[in-house]
Parts: sequence; structure tokens; C-alpha cells
Amino acid sequence: MPNNLVIVANRLPVDRVEQPDGTPGWRLSPGGLVTAIEPVMRANDGVWLGWPGGIDEELEPFEHDGMNLVPMSMSAQEVERFYEGMSNATLWPLYHDLVAKPQFHREWWDSYVAVNQRFAQKAASLAAEGATVWVHDYQLQLVPQMLRELRPDLRIGFYLHIPFPPAELFQQLPWRRQILEGLLGADLVGFQGTGAAQNFVRLVRQRVGHKTHRDLVYLPDGRTVRAHAFPISIDSQGFEELSTSPAVIERASAIREALGNPRKIFLGIDRLDYTKGIYARLRAYAELIQDGHLDVEDAVFVQVAVPSREQVEQYRILRDDIDRLVGRINGDLGRIGRPAISYLHSSYPREEMAALYRAADIMVVTPYRDGMNLVAKEYVACRTDATGALVLSEFAGAADELRQAWLVNPYDINGMKAALLDAYRADAKESTRRMKAMRRTVTQHDVARWAQSFMTELADVRIDHGKTVRPPAES
Ligand code: G6P
Repeated sequence: MPNNLVIVANRLPVDRVEQPDGTPGWRLSPGGLVTAIEPVMRANDGVWLGWPGGIDEELEPFEHDGMNLVPMSMSAQEVERFYEGMSNATLWPLYHDLVAKPQFHREWWDSYVAVNQRFAQKAASLAAEGATVWVHDYQLQLVPQMLRELRPDLRIGFYLHIPFPPAELFQQLPWRRQILEGLLGADLVGFQGTGAAQNFVRLVRQRVGHKTHRDLVYLPDGRTVRAHAFPISIDSQGFEELSTSPAVIERASAIREALGNPRKIFLGIDRLDYTKGIYARLRAYAELIQDGHLDVEDAVFVQVAVPSREQVEQYRILRDDIDRLVGRINGDLGRIGRPAISYLHSSYPREEMAALYRAADIMVVTPYRDGMNLVAKEYVACRTDATGALVLSEFAGAADELRQAWLVNPYDINGMKAALLDAYRADAKESTRRMKAMRRTVTQHDVARWAQSFMTELADVRIDHGKTVRPPAES
């Protein structure tokens, strides 16, 4: 059946689970993206194209929770070169300010091109005449142009969920021009922040030589591409409702109880990723205990690290480093039944996350670079009584909106220590004032509004396209 909307993402919005009877099944991924896109998909006979994980598994399209899903298979070599290699050992660190050193390998690039081509072909075969295709994230940056060549009738949107680096860093990429041209296949390229959109437009002007004006790129064939910021958000209402459900409230107090009812609970929840600044954050916390500012009888730091990309070397090194650090801190500073850090290497369902958010007095989000960081917004959404404090890195996209957080530079350990202590000691009036302001932001800008504004803008750009817009004379 031809579809009026095709979502193309590296991953399908479902995770494989074992059902109670032992047979394999699927569960909707916890992320907010699905929640936002699901209604748009339903309204437009949509289909979602993506990789379900696994190797060489040829699965038939299937329906889950009323959503049409089309699985793309990946070979062992593609997982190694396209996914772990080019996507997560080249582009990921390059786009996150070189927090780790990106590796450049030509065979990884070849695989990236081949997988992007396969996704583009599949999307082309699924889309109805004049349909909208919305491509997501850094794994698929060549798809827009490949798709346009196959199907010029389509309206194509692209959204980058991670940062887009400044020209000085992007320049290093041996395939920089191909990536820029790949993205220019879209009618609308969306970014988390205005800085990222500006970086892109500047690079297109410098490296590809197209005329640009503000957020528009003028292509020689008369087509225009808009590069614009659409800061992503969460299903705020969903989190609010979840966090006020009796089961979650009860679970939150059970968590506090299990931790020995400390006076204050600090919380970090991150994918175990070197961009997240977990190591430095735990060190800062441990120093506060060493310095005598905090006591393990009064406070505990719960750090949840969700396993991620475990075959990629940098991630393995990080895991070992954190294991060692937590062991040392607890060995040196903990007492019986009172660890300094309660460390969990596992992923949890939304209900448990909501209970943790409710149980925590101080949420600590300190990435070196992050496109947005939805954990920060989820915490705020779950603090329905406007209590709790957020310590947030200036380098997370979320800091542009959550200005009332305790903002920190994660490279500055003393600065982080001071902010952690400030948040710990803040009086109720002060933290409520800050939390109330942040709650207004998060409840007003939810993920449905994000999806809606991207789709509306995409519809508008494509209308312009037919008219052959000319660049203003001065640019
Ligand atoms: C980030 C990226 C997503 C990615 C997710 C999980 O949020 O922006 O594209 O899907 O991390 O990473 P994974 O490699 O497991 O898909």
C-alpha cells in the first residue's frame, strides 16, 4: 500500500522482548520520538522504516500498536562498518566536539554509502506519489539526496538529533562535501539549536559554494533548502501523569527506603557514553565527601548507566573506567550499608525512570556536549510539586531553554562541586522558584508541538520550491 508519510530512522521504534510465554515479541521503545510521530503517522497512513537490531535478520513488515513498521536487515559487516564504525566511531565523536578522537576509515565510509542507498531505495518504494518522507539522524545523512534522485516528487525533511559541529571541526571529515550534499537533498533540514543550523549554512556556503541567506540555501536548479532549529522535547503530559500514578509514587518511596532514607538523593541517568561526563561528575561528588561537605550518612548519588554500543572500543574503555572509579570511591568513602554511589548498569522502563525522578532531590546532567538531553526535561516534567533541583551542563541543548537550572561547565570540576553543593543547600523557596519556571517551559513545549512545527514548516518550504525562489541580491 502506498504511504503518504514515511519515517526513516536507523532504528525502529520498538525493542525486542521475550513475552511471558517465551516467544519473541516487541515493545515500544521508551523514547519520546514515537509518541510524537505516532499520531502524525496514523493521520497520514504512515510507515516507519528502520533496523530492528540483530544481524542478517530478514523480517517481514509488521504492525505494532497500530503502527506499520518495515524492518531493514543489516549484515555483520554493516553493523561493524556502518553502525559501530562510521556512525558511532567517526560521526558521533566528530559531531560532539571531538570529545573522543574520531577515526576515519575508507571501508567504513563505503559501507555508510551502501546502507544509506539501501534505506533510500526502500523508502522510495514505499512512498506514495507526492508523499512526505522524514529522515532522522546522523546515521542517514545521505538518504535525502539519494531519495531525491530516485523520487523528485517527494517532500523530504531531515532532522538531526545530535549537535552539528562548527566548520573548524567538520572540516576534518574526508567526506565532508558528500555529507553536505546528502543533506541538501532535503527541503527542510532541522537541527536542535540555531547554532547548529548556522554551522550548516556556513559550511554549505564555504564548501559547496551555494548562495545562502539567513536560514535558506539557494540551489542552482532553483530549489531552496531551509535549515532551521526545532528544539526537541518530551511527552510532558505523559510523564506528569506517570509520575503521579499511585504505583510510581509508591515505588519512589520504596526507592528512598531502600537507599536508607538519606536526607538528599542525587541522581544521574545516562546512556553509558563518553559525551555524558559521567566520570567527572562522580569525581566531583566524591571530592565533596572527601572535603567534608557531604556525608554518606546524609546523601547518596544514584547513577544509572544504560548499556550502549558495547562493541565500540571507546565505550568499553569508558565502562571499565567508571567501574574502577565507582569501586574506588565506594571502597574509600562508603560505610556499611552506605555506599557513596549506588551504581546501576542497566536500562529501565519508563515507570522506573519516573519513580527515580520522583525520588531524587538533585538531578545531575553534565554532558560535555549534547544535542538536547531529554533526561533533564523528563526530570522537570516529573516534579509536579515543583520541588527538586537540576544541575545542568551549559553544553546540553536543554540549557538554552532551562535557564533556571544550576548551570555548570563540566570541564570545571571546582565549578561543578560548587554547583552541586549549592543545589544541595538551596532552600525550598529558591528551588521551587527555579523549578516552577522550568516546568512552564517543559509543559508548554512538548514533543507533539515539536513534530507539528517541523511538519508545518516542511509543508511551507515545499510550496516555495515550485515557485523558484531567487536569492536576495546582496548575498
Ligand atoms: C542518540 C541518537 C539516536 C540513537 C540513540 C541510541 O539518541 O541520536 O539516533 O538511536 O542515541 O543509540 P543507538 O546506537 O543504540 O541507536
